[in-house]
Amino acid sequence: MIEKVFIFDTTLRDGEQSPGASMNTAEKVRLATQLEKLGVDVIEAGFPAASEGDFEAVTQVAKKVTHSEVAALCRATVSDIDRAWKAVCHAARPRIHTFLATSDIHIQYKLNMTREEVLKAAVDGVKFAATFTDNIEFSAEDGSRTDPDFLCQVFEAVIDAGAKTVNLPDTVGYAIPEEFGNLVKYVMENTPNIEKAVLSVHCHNDLGLATANTLAAIKAGARQAEVTINGIGERAGNTSLEEVVMAINTRPTYAAVTTGIQTKHIYQISRLVSMITGMMVQPNKAIVGANAFAHEAGIHQDGMLKNPMTYEIMKPETIGLNANRMVMGKHSGKHALLKHIKNMGYDLSDEELKIVFKKFKDLADKKKVVMDEDLEALVNQEVLRTSDIYSITYLQVTSGTTVLPMATVKMILNGKEVVGTGSGNGPIDAAFNAVAKLTGTRSQLLRFTVSALTGGTDAQGEVTVRLKEDECIALGRGSDPDIITASAYAYVNGLNRLEYLKMNPASATAGRL
Ligand code: KIV
Ligand code: ZN
Repeated sequence: MIEKVFIFDTTLRDGEQSPGASMNTAEKVRLATQLEKLGVDVIEAGFPAASEGDFEAVTQVAKKVTHSEVAALCRATVSDIDRAWKAVCHAARPRIHTFLATSDIHIQYKLNMTREEVLKAAVDGVKFAATFTDNIEFSAEDGSRTDPDFLCQVFEAVIDAGAKTVNLPDTVGYAIPEEFGNLVKYVMENTPNIEKAVLSVHCHNDLGLATANTLAAIKAGARQAEVTINGIGERAGNTSLEEVVMAINTRPTYAAVTTGIQTKHIYQISRLVSMITGMMVQPNKAIVGANAFAHEAGIHQDGMLKNPMTYEIMKPETIGLNANRMVMGKHSGKHALLKHIKNMGYDLSDEELKIVFKKFKDLADKKKVVMDEDLEALVNQEVLRTSDIYSITYLQVTSGTTVLPMATVKMILNGKEVVGTGSGNGPIDAAFNAVAKLTGTRSQLLRFTVSALTGGTDAQGEVTVRLKEDECIALGRGSDPDIITASAYAYVNGLNRLEYLKMNPASATAGRL
C-alpha cells in the first residue's frame, strides 16, 4: 500500500536562520499562504519565545492559514511552551513543537545536565504542552549523534506523555544515508509504542547529504520529512522540499510513498522565497536552478529532439516551469495582464493592480517582451516588499572613461522628498554614496551580485546586495533593465531591511538556537 509522507515545511523558521535571510511578518504571511496552496501538511511559522517579531509572525500566520497545520517551536520549558501556545492557538490546526538535546555532547557541554534530567525535562515539557493541545511534536536535538538506546527511551517516554510526532534531527548534518536509514529502522524496531506516533526526520546539509539522508529515512519508515523551499536554512541549509518531493515522484518504487504536494506550484514558490529572502538559487541547483532543465551539449539536444525521454527524467511543466507561460508586451491589455498575474498566484488588491499595470507599461516600453520572471520581479519590487522607510524616485548618473562618476538621487525619506549627489570610483559607487549621504546610513557592502533575469540583451538586471551595519546583516534585491538603477533599488531595499532589523532587534537573531 502506498503510504503518505507528511511534509513539514520549516522555511519560515529554520529557513529564516540562514544568515541575513530574515523576513518580516507580512512576507511570512504571504509565504505561508503559498505554502498552503502548495499542499504542505505543516507550516512551522517561527519560534515565538525568540523575539517579539517571531511571536507576531506566528500569531499572524496562525490567523491566516486555514488548512495546513501551523507549528510553533519552543524549548521544553514552561515559559517557552506557554509563549508558543499564546501565538499558535489562533490556528485552525495548531501544533506545539518542543525540543531538547539528547546527545551526550550537548547534554554535558551545552545543557550541563544528566541523561536522567533530560528525560524528565522532555516528559515534563510534553505533559505541559498537552494541557493546551494534543497535537504535540517532540524533537530530540542532535538525535543522529545520540546513543540509539537513549533516543528510543526518550521517544517512548514522550509518546507516553502525549507526543503525536517524534522527530529525529541530524542537527549538525553529520549523518550518512545508509547509517541514518539504519538508525531510523532501529528506532522503529526498538521504541515499543512507536506506532502511536509519526516518526519524523529533519536533516541539515553540511555534507551535502540532507536529501539523501531524508530519503533513506523515509525508506526505513519515517513518515514526516522536515524541509525548506530551496533548501535554505542554518549554515549549509536544510533538506530541500522540492528535491525530496520530486525524488519520491520520479522514483515511485524506491520507497512507495506519496505526498500531498501540488508540484506545479514548486517553481513559483521557489522564486518567491528567493525574492523575499534575497537569497539567489544557484543555477545548478537540482529542480529549481536556472540550468536544471537546460540541455547544453549537442548530443543531448539531438537526443531530446528525437525523444525527450533520452535525457529528461522530469518534465519542467511538472514543477510549473514553462506552464501557462505567456509573453506580454506593450500592447497587452490590462485585463489580460491582471488575469495572468492572478494565474501566477498573486492575489492583489485593485490599488496594487493599478500600480503593477503602470509599472508593466513602463517596463514594456523599455523591453519588447515581458516574461513571467519580469512580472514576478515587478510585483515583488513594487507592491509586495518590506514596507519602505526609504525609496528612490529619481536617479541620474554620469560616468565614462574621462569623467568622475557622479550620481544625483531624489528619495522619499519618512514621507519627504530630498535630493542629493554623490561621487565614486564608478557609477554604482557614486549612486550608493549619494544614497548613503541622504539617508545618513553607514552600512558596509559585504557582497554585490548581478545577473540577468531572462535571456536577451534587453533583459532586466537583477542585483543582490548584502549589507552590514553594527551586528545586523541584511540582503537587498532590485531589478531594472538598467543595472545601475537595479543596483540602487537593491541597495535601498537592503537599507530598508536593515532598518526593519534595527526596529525589531530580536528578529536579527530570531530562531537561532
Ligand atoms: O536542527 C535541529 O535540530 C532543529 C530542531 C529544533 C528540530 O532545528
Ligand atoms: Zn534544524
